[in-house]
Parts: sequence; structure tokens; C-alpha cells
Amino acid sequence: MSMSSTRFSFYLEQIDEVLLNKPEIQDPISLFEPQHYTVALGGKRIRPMMTLMAAGLCGGDPKRALDVAVCIEMTHTFTLIHDDIMDAADSRRGKPTAFKKWGTPKAILAGDSLFVCAMTYINRYSNLLSVNALSDMYKVYFNGVQEVCIGQAYDLEMAEKGRASTEEYMRMIDGKTSALLRTALVMGGISVGASENHVSHLNELGTSLGLAFQIQDDLLDVNADFEKLGKTIGGDILEGKMTFLITSLLERVDKSTAQYVHQILSKPTRNHSDVSEIVDLLDKQNILSYTHEMIEGLYNRSVSALQAFDDSQYKQDLHDLIRFLRNREY
Ligand code: IPE
Ligand code: IPE
Ligand code: MG
Ligand code: MG
Ligand code: MG
Repeated sequence: MSMSSTRFSFYLEQIDEVLLNKPEIQDPISLFEPQHYTVALGGKRIRPMMTLMAAGLCGGDPKRALDVAVCIEMTHTFTLIHDDIMDAADSRRGKPTAFKKWGTPKAILAGDSLFVCAMTYINRYSNLLSVNALSDMYKVYFNGVQEVCIGQAYDLEMAEKGRASTEEYMRMIDGKTSALLRTALVMGGISVGASENHVSHLNELGTSLGLAFQIQDDLLDVNADFEKLGKTIGGDILEGKMTFLITSLLERVDKSTAQYVHQILSKPTRNHSDVSEIVDLLDKQNILSYTHEMIEGLYNRSVSALQAFDDSQYKQDLHDLIRFLRNREY
């Protein structure tokens, strides 16, 4: 299944119609241009698609979840604009990152403003949902974004330290990545009045999918093709990031090798020969295939979480989305 399949297009067209259909960029241009630029660069749009599919999965009309979907993709894009500043990343979606183009101060502000714009889409439910359901929607959203911030803070702390256990790493990615996937699914569910039982299964689905997705992102950082990925290859090692590959390596090698890896990763900066030394060690220890197995196991867990829902076209679409993610190269 590719992104151009008719079923995926069914979701993508609705999402992009709202997301990209903006009036002329108003003043101040320096605030709005970086936002429009990053949103319009595309991206896979998996989170808003998941929002619409979750609404269908819970027996509702996906159209009802469209404003949530737009809110989620804007929120995601805001986290990317700030993440690229934090990670000193040059490329995003195959183009220069917002802070590289406009400078850090303007990119920070553009991200903040996009975050606020995202929140306004939740208010569109004020006449559609009960006071309780609307309050749940806000709670889930605020909690989700706070979890992302917590995960991102762990990410920075771990990079500073130059070492972490796989358990600490899993807690970090549960925040920085799974949290927004859970939020995307659960808000989609709430927009159509999902039961508590459904919400808890959506949470489980978002957690396993998010963990699989982030570990795969770590793997792609090492072995993808730049033209396809649109992000610098080896960027995580250059930045001294704790990834699943690194924590697994640290746990597998002897003490002195672990000390050596730690030394490289805790230096203020690394060069390309540091990167190739680490990549050689990853190869020698078979970390890439071990990581691949871990990803497969987590995707299998997400397929099991999906079994809790009644059969429907939307359930089939989520199966197809999981299959697309498993095979992704970007
Ligand atoms: C990138 O997310 C950030 C992570 C959580 C790994 P995506 O890989 O979904 O980015 P886009 O939206 O497709 O560019
Ligand atoms: C991204 O993690 C998590 C968030 C954006 C919240 P990464 O830093 O690994 O994402 P990429 O690789 O830059 O897309
Ligand atoms: Mg990053
Ligand atoms: Mg990051
Ligand atoms: Mg990454």
C-alpha cells in the first residue's frame, strides 16, 4: 500500500484541504511564513489520518474528527519546528529547516503561534460536544502535549549525559513520540463519543505504534537514503542522541567498549569519523537486525491492539496504515 492508494487519498485530501487552504499570509510575514512553509512541505500526515480512522473505528463519521485531525497535524508540525532547533537539524521533509531559513528566534515564535492556532481547532467542538466531552478533549490534548515536552526534556538530558539504559530510553520515547499518537487516536474517538473501553484500546494502540515508529525512526537515521528520508543521515550520532541502537549497543558490549562509546557521545561535538566508528560497532554487534526485530514485535503488538475493535473499513485502513509504516523508507 502506498500513500497514493485511494483509501489513503480519501483521508489525505480532506486533511490537506483544511490544512493548506489558508488565506493570504498576513502580517507579520516573519511569523506566519515559517509556519506555512513547514506545514506545506508535506510529511506523511500519519497522525491526522489516524485521528480520522479512530473516529471510524469507534463507529462514528470520520468527517466529525476533521478539526481534531488538523489540530493534531499542526501540533506535530509545531513540535518539529522546535525539535529541529533542539537537534540542530539542517533538513526536514527534504528542505532546509525553519530555523536554518529564518533563524532561531523567528522559528521559536512561529512554532509557538502554530501551537496556539492548533488549539483553536478544538474550540470548534464547543457546539458539537457535551461540556464533559469537550473538557475531556482538552484534558487529553494538554496532557498529551505535556507528555511530549517531558519526553523531549529526557531526550536532551540523556544526550547531555551520553548514556542511558534501554528502559530509560523507552520512557523517553513513550513521551516524545507515543504521546502524540495516543492523543491523535483518543481525540478522534472522543469527537464521536467513543466508550471508555474503546478509548483504552486506542491508548494501547497509540503506545505500541509510537514505540515502533520511533525506534524505526532511529534505525532510519542510520540506514536510510537521504533523498527518501529528507533528513540528515547519522544526525542522531552527530548530535550524541540516545537512540534504541545506542542503548542496545551499550548494553551488549564489554565495559571498556561501553566506556569508549560513552566518551565519544559525551564530547561537546562529534565528527564524521566518530560517526563511522559507532556505525562499525553497531554492525559488529548486529544491532541493526536486533533493532529490526524489536520494531516488528511492537508493530505486531499494535496489530493485536486493533483486534479489540469490530471489523470495519476503518479497521482495514488502520491495518493498511500499519503495513505502510512497517515498510516505510522515510
Ligand atoms: C517525525 O515524525 C518525528 C518523529 C516522531 C520521529 P514523522 O516521521 O511523522 O514526520 P513527517 O510528518 O512525516 O515529516
Ligand atoms: C522527534 O524525535 C520527537 C518530536 C518531534 C517530538 P526526533 O528528533 O528523532 O525526530 P526527527 O528524527 O528529528 O524527525
Ligand atoms: Mg529531531
Ligand atoms: Mg529530537
Ligand atoms: Mg529521529
